[in-house]
Amino acid sequence: MAAFGPNWYHHSGTGHFFNSMHYWSTEIFFGALAAHLLTKFFMAAWRDGRWKAWIVGIVTFAVVVPTALTGFLSQTNWDSQWIAVQAKDALNSLGVGAWLNTLNTGQMLTLHMVLLPLVAVILLGLHIFFVRRDGPVKPIDSSRPPKTPIAETDQNKKGAGR
Ligand code: HEM
Repeated sequence: MAAFGPNWYHHSGTGHFFNSMHYWSTEIFFGALAAHLLTKFFMAAWRDGRWKAWIVGIVTFAVVVPTALTGFLSQTNWDSQWIAVQAKDALNSLGVGAWLNTLNTGQMLTLHMVLLPLVAVILLGLHIFFVRRDGPVKPIDSSRPPKTPIAETDQNKKGAGR
């Protein structure tokens, strides 16, 4: 899409196909990300020194959300204009409107195609590095003694014979 430009991905059949692939990949990406966040949260996956992977994961999430936002701003249609006009108020209220202007299509497209994906890929590499180095976290119950100690089981067996 970056190579052939909007005339191709908005007006030709092949371009539309790649545009749709890009869009639906994003949908699957965020669906999978939500599943990943929820499962890791309920596993309490930050335990045993794994806070580094956890924090890098949070920062990566904070980068991919604006990547998707700037993608929607790059559609160059009524939809993207509407989103840009609404989003500029949010950024202005945060006091960053002088640097980040969602009405500036060039800035949004460059952020979308270059800066944010690059930062996301670097952070993802770091995230996977920590996970590979530390391994998956042990199950929550693994450090507790077994609920039915072996001795008790033996007693039960003796008792059962009486
Ligand atoms: C994490 C990475 C990325 C995410 C989550 C993402 C997400 C999106 C989304 C949601 C849209 C709007 C699609 C639509 O409604 O049709 C979009 C559009 C676009 N993206 Fe990405 N994108 C990513 C990376 C990239 C990269 C690396 C490039 C190119 C180097 C790129 C190029 C484009 C272009 C040209 C559009 C405008 C398409 C249109 O006019 O409909 N994106 N992106």
